[in-house]
Amino acid sequence: MSAREIPISEDDLAASLPALLGKAYARYSNFTVAAAVIDADGIAHLGVNVENAAYPSGTCAEQVAIGAMVTAGGRGIATVLIASGSNAVVQPCGACRQRIAEFATESCEIVSVQDGRTTRRTPFWSLLPDSFGPRDLD
Ligand code: THU
Repeated sequence: MSAREIPISEDDLAASLPALLGKAYARYSNFTVAAAVIDADGIAHLGVNVENAAYPSGTCAEQVAIGAMVTAGGRGIATVLIASGSNAVVQPCGACRQRIAEFATESCEIVSVQDGRTTRRTPFWSLLPDSFGPRDLD
């Protein structure tokens, strides 16, 4: 099991995100983000934002966590926890909503983490209704 395949409770995972923010590479915006995806098997996959001198080449924390999930074999997203260095509630950007939609379960939730605790739960599909997705290509 790799460091990115962590069976862990949601509360423990939330508590771990502030430390993970320290791993973010946000030298241009100084806006650090840490994300944890809990897959359909209850396994956590972590990500931080990774910026780039060619600004559009930077990646969001959610994108990195989804990549880790897929690399580990996960194919369903049950929960996405998000923390930011600003400690404000941060919802996934539009592009990440589309990335999450590719794997989100019907009951998928976005969970905001502030001060290492969960503060807000948002049904994922309320953030991206009527979206284009895998079924459109079936
Ligand atoms: N960012 C994320 O990683 N996730 C979000 O949900 C919002 C924005 C990152 C992208 C960029 O590195 C920085 O935050 C400022 O936009």
